[in-house]
Amino acid sequence: MKKITIAVDGFSSSGKSTMAKDLAKEIGYIYIDSGAMYRAVTLYAMEHNLFNGEDIDTENLEKQIQDIHISFQLNPETGRPDTYLNDVNVENQIRSMDVSSKVSPISTLGFVREAMVRQQQEMGKTKGIVMDGRDIGTTVFPDAELKIFVTASPETRAERRYEELKAKGQDASYEDILKNVKERDYIDQNREISPLRKADDAILLDNSTMSISQQKEWLMQQYLQAVQ
Ligand code: DC
Repeated sequence: MKKITIAVDGFSSSGKSTMAKDLAKEIGYIYIDSGAMYRAVTLYAMEHNLFNGEDIDTENLEKQIQDIHISFQLNPETGRPDTYLNDVNVENQIRSMDVSSKVSPISTLGFVREAMVRQQQEMGKTKGIVMDGRDIGTTVFPDAELKIFVTASPETRAERRYEELKAKGQDASYEDILKNVKERDYIDQNREISPLRKADDAILLDNSTMSISQQKEWLMQQYLQAVQ
C-alpha cells in the first residue's frame, strides 16, 4: 500500500494526539507530536532562566536555538513515543501546567517556528508519518494527502485535560485549565506566523460528542479512503 503523509491539526486538548497516535500505531506509521516540540523548547527556556515573569529573553533563546535537540523514542511500557530534550526524557515535565501556561508565547516566535518546522519537514521526508499540531496541513506539509482538522467545545477540551492530569497524579483545577485552554485558543488563532486555521482541503471533525473508539474508527475510514 502506498505511504502517505497525514496532518492532524486542531485546537488544544481536542483529542487529536490520541487519534493520531492510535492511527499511526495501527498502520505502522511514525507519529510526531509537534506540540511536544514547542513544549520542549519552553521547558528549555524555563530551565535556562530565559523567562522573567511573562517576558522571554528572545535574544538568548535565539542564540541557543541550535543547541535544542528534540527527539522521540518509543516507550515500551506505554507503546507510545516519549519526548527527549537533549537526550533527557521530558515527557511528563512538558505536560505540566507550568509549561502549558508558557508555551503559546514561545510558539509565536518566528525563529522558534522556523527551527521546528525545519526539523518536522526533515522527519516527514520519507512519508509514512502522522503528525499533529496547529500548522501541519497549512505550513509544514501543505501537500499532505490526508488533512484532518479537529475541534470540540472549550469546556469539553478542558474536562479532557483535567482528567488526563488527574490520571497522572498532577494537581490542577478545572477552572484554571479552562482559562488556559481559552487563552491558548486565542493566541494560537491570532498569532502572526502560521496561525491555527483549517487548511482549505482539510476534513473537519467536531468530536465533542464522540467516544475515543468512534474517533478512531472515523479516522481509519479517512485513511483507507486516502490510500485507495
Ligand atoms: O498540542 P499542544 O497543546 O501540546 O501544543 C502546545 C502549544 O504549542 C500550543 O499552545 C500551540 C503550539 N503549537 C504550535 O504553535 N504549532 C504546532 N504545530 C503545534 C503546537
